[in-house]
Amino acid sequence: MKSNIIIQKGKKQVIKICRSKKGFQKELYIYKKNLSFVPRLLDHNGVNTIMIEYIEGIPISDLLQPDFKKIAELFVELHSLDFKKGKRVCLNDSNPKNFLFCKKTRKYYMLDFSEWEYDYPESDLIHFLLFWASIYRASKFKKIFHQFINAYKNSLIINPIEWEMLVPEMILKFDSRRMKFFKIERKVNPHISKNREILTYIQ
Ligand SMILES: Nc1ncnc2c1ncn2[C@@H]1O[C@H](COP(=O)(O)OP(=O)(O)O)[C@@H](O)[C@H]1O
Ligand SMILES: [Mg+2]
Repeated sequence: MKSNIIIQKGKKQVIKICRSKKGFQKELYIYKKNLSFVPRLLDHNGVNTIMIEYIEGIPISDLLQPDFKKIAELFVELHSLDFKKGKRVCLNDSNPKNFLFCKKTRKYYMLDFSEWEYDYPESDLIHFLLFWASIYRASKFKKIFHQFINAYKNSLIINPIEWEMLVPEMILKFDSRRMKFFKIERKVNPHISKNREILTYIQ
């Protein structure tokens, strides 16, 4: 946990107390844009706390069959917000826990903008895919990899050279974050190396 979260289901609101002023400012920057795939901003205290709409949703990591095409479209929308010297607004923490699916509305939501950065959009996509590479079988991973990438490429460009260069760096970042957050690694997926190999090359 990077912050304190108070979920008030009855009041349909969530209070997030950010750990740093910078994290708070980053959250506010995105929440103030009123994006359709982000919970609505209800209030903030100008220092470290935001109040946002409660989404009655399931983290996508708990779904049997997340719709990777729709999730790719969330990245397209976020990355389309702003563009600076080849870099785009990136979530920079594309952990599946930061994505919720609301069964009632069939909508996907993105959360947690405390770490967003201008970065190469490929880094967000690779980081996101690494989570699935660590849990799926190779045949399943290959399928969702293509679904996700093709949906993204329908709207935005992926630079294949940038992609290949970023993969090793993103693997290092992913592995060190996992160790930090989860401490003990879950049972190692025997397909992980194959999945990371599939992930390395993009047509
Ligand atoms: N608006 C919301 N509606 C429903 N659940 C939320 C909402 N905001 C946060 N959560 C839940 O709280 C968790 C932590 O919130 P998050 O903003 O990701 O904080 P952290 O910085 O601690 O990761 C999320 O993974 C999600 O399960
Ligand atoms: Mg989070």
